[in-house]
Amino acid sequence: MISASPDARALLARAMDHHRSGRLGEAEQDYLGVAAAGYRRVEVMRLLAGLADADGRLELALARWQEVLAGASSDVQALVASGALLHRLGRWNEAAAAFEAAAARAPEHPQVVAYMGVVLFDAGRGGTADGMAAPPIEPFVQLRMRRAVAAVVPFWHIPMMNDDARNDAFERAIVRAVTARGPSARVLDIGTGSGLLAMMAARAGAAYVDSCEAVPVIAKTAQRTVELNGYADRVRVIAKKSTDLVLGADIAEPADVLISEVLSSDLLTEGLLGTFEDALRRLVKPGAAVIPQAVTAVGCLAGGAALERLAAVGTVSGFDLSPFSALACPRLPIWRKSPPWTRLSANFDIVHLDLTASEHPAYLARMAVPVASDGIAVGVVQWMLVRLDADTALATHTEESQDDGSWLRILHTFARPVRVTAGQAIELIVGHDRMNLVITSA
Ligand SMILES: C[S@@+](CC[C@H](N)C(=O)[O-])C[C@H]1O[C@@H](n2cnc3c(N)ncnc32)[C@H](O)[C@@H]1O
Repeated sequence: MISASPDARALLARAMDHHRSGRLGEAEQDYLGVAAAGYRRVEVMRLLAGLADADGRLELALARWQEVLAGASSDVQALVASGALLHRLGRWNEAAAAFEAAAARAPEHPQVVAYMGVVLFDAGRGGTADGMAAPPIEPFVQLRMRRAVAAVVPFWHIPMMNDDARNDAFERAIVRAVTARGPSARVLDIGTGSGLLAMMAARAGAAYVDSCEAVPVIAKTAQRTVELNGYADRVRVIAKKSTDLVLGADIAEPADVLISEVLSSDLLTEGLLGTFEDALRRLVKPGAAVIPQAVTAVGCLAGGAALERLAAVGTVSGFDLSPFSALACPRLPIWRKSPPWTRLSANFDIVHLDLTASEHPAYLARMAVPVASDGIAVGVVQWMLVRLDADTALATHTEESQDDGSWLRILHTFARPVRVTAGQAIELIVGHDRMNLVITSA
């Protein structure tokens, strides 16, 4: 039993009265007096930690929780609170250690379940074998951790790696470029992902392969994958965005071969143009091989009842909901024939980009597209023709019904569906603003 002077007890009662009434400054002064008197110190320290946390004095709040832990090291609430503060202060590894200690004592504690995944992820342990395998991981924690990973690792990575047609086409061009430049070839692979294309370059005989990856957890996994496959002596993975690479510091010399697969299904949104322009300006030798060399957005006019129902709304249950069509998404993904759509024109080239050019200014142009079938054109279904080198090209899609690779087709919807008749031509405006294709009816 802790004995207390009547003064300390009265001070605590007064502190609690201040606290209840919202007089937090007075409450804190009195609690400090109680703590100094040594009366119910651990409980009072918890209240003091809460007061400091509430008005953003994070370091002080942490120090107070740590004092609680010094007297009661298995206090789960103190572990969780100090873990959350360490996380807010960016002290990722200490935060993870605090949450792990809490999880060891109370794996189902709601705050442990809620935050553990994110904390482990931020400590660099999400999505990697060490983080995922550390048993026991409570299912909610595991789900949160996987969701934290998914927030920075888009779903298409795995189908992309399993896309043999894509991989083989890149490897053909990589082998040709590396062989042509001989064993001293230096390669730069921008956006290495799993490290696949960088390892292909090493397997083709490149002496040095610098690769970079902007997403830290992906870069870390690429590093492991390169080690796993025995290429760590020739492939370096730099966890940086290419535009932040410093020549002479991150990479020793400009490259003889540039490889970069940063092609989103809609061509531009992964920052293709800025990435290539910067690399050509700073990171590769004049005359370096560039893979891919060019890319063309290809497409056709598309319609059909299913597309119309995705792109616009009219009368529903007797109500006119058409104003909502103004909010319709300008781009929709199409996976094979889902949703089903009808071709209303032959294929046409929409935008062509020479990736060896030093600049790609935004532009808009008018284009007349001959209509092949009657129908309501909802927009243009777009895919890509990727020119890897003089001898290798890869069409991301060919036939509507084909078992496609990993890229999606994209439906670029018109602001309003347009009725079209076979034999006429529809006027489109096409171009890009460097980050987005523009494809719309004139
Ligand atoms: C489409 S994936 C390709 C991965 C791998 N090169 C392959 O072909 O299997 C593109 C990767 O590049 C990364 N990335 C995109 N732009 C980048 C840049 N400018 N610098 C570094 N990484 C980039 C993305 O995070 C993503 O992991």
